[in-house]
Amino acid sequence: MGIKKIGLHIGLQSPVKLLHISDTHLSFADSRDDARKQKLAEKRSQLFENGTHACLIHLLNAMDYAVEHCDLLVHTGDLIDFVSYRNLDLVKGIMGDLDYFFVAGNHEFSKYVGEAVEDEAYKQDSLPLVQQAFKHDIRFCSRVVGGLNLVGLDNSYYHFNREHIELFKAEVLKGLPIILFVHNPFYTEELFDECIRVRGNSYASIMGCPDDLIAGYSKDRFEQQRATNEDRAMIDYLKSLSLIKAVFAGHLHYFHESQWSDTARQYVVGGNFSGDAHEIVIT
Ligand SMILES: [Fe+2]
Repeated sequence: MGIKKIGLHIGLQSPVKLLHISDTHLSFADSRDDARKQKLAEKRSQLFENGTHACLIHLLNAMDYAVEHCDLLVHTGDLIDFVSYRNLDLVKGIMGDLDYFFVAGNHEFSKYVGEAVEDEAYKQDSLPLVQQAFKHDIRFCSRVVGGLNLVGLDNSYYHFNREHIELFKAEVLKGLPIILFVHNPFYTEELFDECIRVRGNSYASIMGCPDDLIAGYSKDRFEQQRATNEDRAMIDYLKSLSLIKAVFAGHLHYFHESQWSDTARQYVVGGNFSGDAHEIVIT
């Protein structure tokens, strides 16, 4: 495993240790799915693991590592690459006995990958079936561990949901230090620079970029990634909270860290499909 170790010092009475992974992209289908999906499974498996079962092996390795060395496994989405019976059976079967903390990525709701405009209606269409495979709400979750409040918030389509904003505000009232987990990383100058200039992408795939920076995106990507006023207000609110001690995200498939607010750095983890993970020790 490619583990990046991260230490956070916030004055806990005893240390909390988390294994953070993201973007496993399980790409399985069987005869219960149609031929189009079976073909997609072959194509996507080729892309992520050269047609081997490496994604599954990296997931199992991470689970073993978390059980042996950490208090909890946290997964920030894209555990599955697309909705299929076999992928959801694997989630239930493999993760069913494990205590985990999970927040959804964009692929959790993807029926055929890139087939449609990914909006709230598209997400809602997949949600009931996908949600059944998981042990807690995959769009909003919180858990207190060792005096620390872990909060998972779905921003997988580059937007927040109003109901989740209210649920988050209720978490703040608990007054505990918060570690925030999201699928899509938030804009920082350094991360935008890495996405566009260093890595040469034509769009950054991060949430909350200033409009002028994304004006040159294709129309589709501009529409997809442009923040609403409500999103911007929520991001400003999150950044104003000194209770938030760190943000952990995935989605980009490479490691990155940069300062996000006065009190929190943002850490992006590489893809679990290639064995990357964060081991986070909070003291
Ligand atoms: Fe993603």
